[in-house]
Amino acid sequence: MKTLKIVSVVGARPNFMKIAPFVRAIEDANKGNGAGIDHILVHTGQHYDDSMSKAFFDALNIPEADINLGIGSGTHAEQVGHTMIAFEKVVRQEKPDWVVVVGDVNATCACSITAKKQHVRLAHIEAGLRSGDMTMPEEVNRLVTDRLSDLLFTPDRLSGDNLRREGVAADKIRFVGNIMIDTLEAQRHKAEELRVADIVGCNRMEGQGAKADFGEQDIFSLLTLHRPSNVDDPKILGEIVDFLTDELARDMPLLWTVHPRTEKQLKAFGLWDKVVAARNVVTLRPLGYHQLLRLNMGAALVLTDSGGLQEECCVLGTPCLTLRWNTERPVTLREQGGASVLVGNDVRRIREACREMLERGRVPSRPELWDGKTAPRIVEVIVEAGGI
Ligand code: UD1
Repeated sequence: MKTLKIVSVVGARPNFMKIAPFVRAIEDANKGNGAGIDHILVHTGQHYDDSMSKAFFDALNIPEADINLGIGSGTHAEQVGHTMIAFEKVVRQEKPDWVVVVGDVNATCACSITAKKQHVRLAHIEAGLRSGDMTMPEEVNRLVTDRLSDLLFTPDRLSGDNLRREGVAADKIRFVGNIMIDTLEAQRHKAEELRVADIVGCNRMEGQGAKADFGEQDIFSLLTLHRPSNVDDPKILGEIVDFLTDELARDMPLLWTVHPRTEKQLKAFGLWDKVVAARNVVTLRPLGYHQLLRLNMGAALVLTDSGGLQEECCVLGTPCLTLRWNTERPVTLREQGGASVLVGNDVRRIREACREMLERGRVPSRPELWDGKTAPRIVEVIVEAGGI
């Protein structure tokens, strides 16, 4: 049988939980059906700290990337430009039948453009998400990637509607469900075995020695924050910090897993000391996949600007305040049956929603085809579409 050659791409943290089930489904297709897929995994190196990258490869059993482009941090143009130059060499050398990209980070967009300019067919996993917010770098990445893709794998029906509205041919759009939920379902039993107090104990950041030890308490809230719209403006970040330290953390301990970008900004804006000094705020280093999942399972409330966390809260039922004015994932919103409400970065709205959502409690919801079997569906479609 003729071998089908696929190059798939990851770059940043949210990509890793999306590629893990895809890699596994390729291995299964090769073993079970003799699909004969030659798969090459490329890491662009956009995220490079062990805690942002290697830890996820290890925890999710992703084989080491065959090629690491070592791009690292930089402005958007630097990241996209350097990735394109490096990835072009890979595509020229490997001559794949398909390039497969996931999500909406700079690596996704850069490798999509490169693949198409080399006349290689492109498949996008997590296609059709739209926030409508062109100031969001990910929205630009989504639009470019979807416009260029030959196969668009959508996580929900709303995403398919978006693509059809934009004129994408119906036969390119395949509704397969949410691949992140494959990882959640495969890994949740491991997360359940962890203890919250151990996670906190092992991951506390420096300088919090004076605070009481976090016990196996029933009630805590969990925060993640990294979007430029929340952390790059000192006034906005300052108001959020005031609310968290002076109000939210008074009622229950707040566990804050701090993204490197956010740590940098808190220090630059002179807010770091206030956060560290706050009695009930526990800052944690970036957590591993199972650790964050465990905290999400136990949290009374999640506050986040991450897209992936909104989706996990939806399935786990954790009340979620999304610290954004819009979302590309409307299926996770309360009005669609999900567990999340949009609160932007307006403290008044955050305060009200906190009260409401705590009263509402846990309400799990599972959108159609978020069943843990998305990756095999994707591989089947690509195999069917075949080589050149
Ligand atoms: C990127 C993605 C975003 C995703 C997020 C998850 C884009 C446009 N943005 O944002 O969609 O939600 O990842 O984390 O692709 N840094 C480190 N160590 C690392 C990586 C980054 O310290 O391993 C620091 C650097 O100071 C860097 C900053 O974080 O400049 C931002 O990293 P970058 O990859 O540019 O964007 P993110 O904010 O992580």
